Amino acid sequence: MALLAEAKRISALFEFSDDDVRNAVVEFVTEMNEGLEKNGTTLSQIPTFVTGVPNGTEKGLYLAVDLGGTNFRVCSIQLHGDTTFTLTQSKVAIPKELMVAETAKELFAFLAKQVELFLKSHHEEHFEGRVERHQTPGTPTGYEEESIFRLGFTFSFPVHQTGINSGTLIRWTKGFDIQDAVGKDVCALLQEELDLLKLPVKVSALVNDTVGTLMARSYTAPGKTDTLLGAIFGTGTNGAYVETMSKIKKPLEGAYDSTTGQMVVNTEWGSFDNGLKVLPNTIYDQILDKESVNPGIQMFEKRISGMFLGEILRIVLDIMMGNSKNPFFTDKDSSSNDFGSTTVIDDNAPLKQQWAVDSSILSVAQSDNSVGLRTLRQFIEKDLGVQAPSLEDAQAVKDIAHAIAKRAARLAGVAVAGIILHTGRLDPKGGPEDIVDIGVDGSLVEFYPGFEDYMREAMRAVDGIGHAGEKRIRIGIAKDGSGVGAALIALVAAKLEATGITA
Ligand code: BGC
Repeated sequence: MALLAEAKRISALFEFSDDDVRNAVVEFVTEMNEGLEKNGTTLSQIPTFVTGVPNGTEKGLYLAVDLGGTNFRVCSIQLHGDTTFTLTQSKVAIPKELMVAETAKELFAFLAKQVELFLKSHHEEHFEGRVERHQTPGTPTGYEEESIFRLGFTFSFPVHQTGINSGTLIRWTKGFDIQDAVGKDVCALLQEELDLLKLPVKVSALVNDTVGTLMARSYTAPGKTDTLLGAIFGTGTNGAYVETMSKIKKPLEGAYDSTTGQMVVNTEWGSFDNGLKVLPNTIYDQILDKESVNPGIQMFEKRISGMFLGEILRIVLDIMMGNSKNPFFTDKDSSSNDFGSTTVIDDNAPLKQQWAVDSSILSVAQSDNSVGLRTLRQFIEKDLGVQAPSLEDAQAVKDIAHAIAKRAARLAGVAVAGIILHTGRLDPKGGPEDIVDIGVDGSLVEFYPGFEDYMREAMRAVDGIGHAGEKRIRIGIAKDGSGVGAALIALVAAKLEATGITA
């Protein structure tokens, strides 16, 4: 029992009370406003030059690529104009060495190559036909404008956006680290490599995955209510929302259509409260941060997203193992070890390696409510590399994993509540809609049982939302935001070009 008491003590360190939530929301709204005033703030509040959300009637064929985590996706999207679409896609894992390459070229040449392979295998007839009919060597790209595929580039890192299809990289996140790319225009980097392969593709739109999620949800959402927020709770975390243009006080560098009076803003909330005024900061959070590639940055993300939750758990368990007072993964304190043998952890076990524990084990721990925790114990063997864990060991893992994930979901609730309050969308004077629509995507919100419930529980504690407000918030999964969303923004970009607002 000593072990479970210890697990309970540690779990309590991850509690984030209703008061903590309320304080954090106030700080979140303050930092949102700061970000709208000037550059260089914790919440970057990046204007995206997207000035409207779709209504489901949009049509056309577009390409989209998505760089933002462990995989690179290339897809083509046919928008049917009746809220539906058809998507063809290919996905490839990004080689680890390219995530930390010396030069940006190494990564972007690899991306362009994947676009070439995709076009050849999925659009060959169409592609070749167009090339033959329209090849016009006199033009700079070698193709007439109309024969060019428009591509939406979902690039899910903080970018200082300078137009709908241009922006310079502010910093890498999620384990990427290619210093050569920082400060460069990522659309130009991709376009250069596509041109070297002579592909008839124009990078027409630069899209954060949260903006894509917002657009995708707006295109597919039931009813007439415009979606307010697109949020990702996956490998990383972030949100983009529809802002009133007059509230964006900092100068906008690029051209845009000002008639709607609105613009989508990418908050980059992963760096909310880097100064740790209101965020929890356990010893485990401190160790994770110190050993990360970007200490002191993305402090909110490091407490919420899938890239980090498995590592927080690993750090806690590793420290617990070193505590001789509470035998853990040693088999000595186990009353029912039905795996038979003594617990063994070899030197290469994921439990011993930084970043080696996948956050999916948190979902497994939460889902397994069987008496013997059999599934969780199998995952402890496979994912942590601990052979023959006892039931009590597994229960301790389950309790701690729950505390870490619940804190993450409550923190996620802080961000969503902050945006709802800031925009006044629940206020009847702020708009006629009865509901506030939110599109979400990402493995945590999709697969962690109860993530949304914990988020909602936190939002109910917030002044200005409460029980009544929380009921009016509709949250829907927006799958394929990075595909269909990017296509929708490429379409917006094409319209801007047609009206002569951009080139
Ligand atoms: C990035 C964001 C992105 C989020 C979700 C964060 O690490 O900074 O740009 O939207 O991950 O993918």
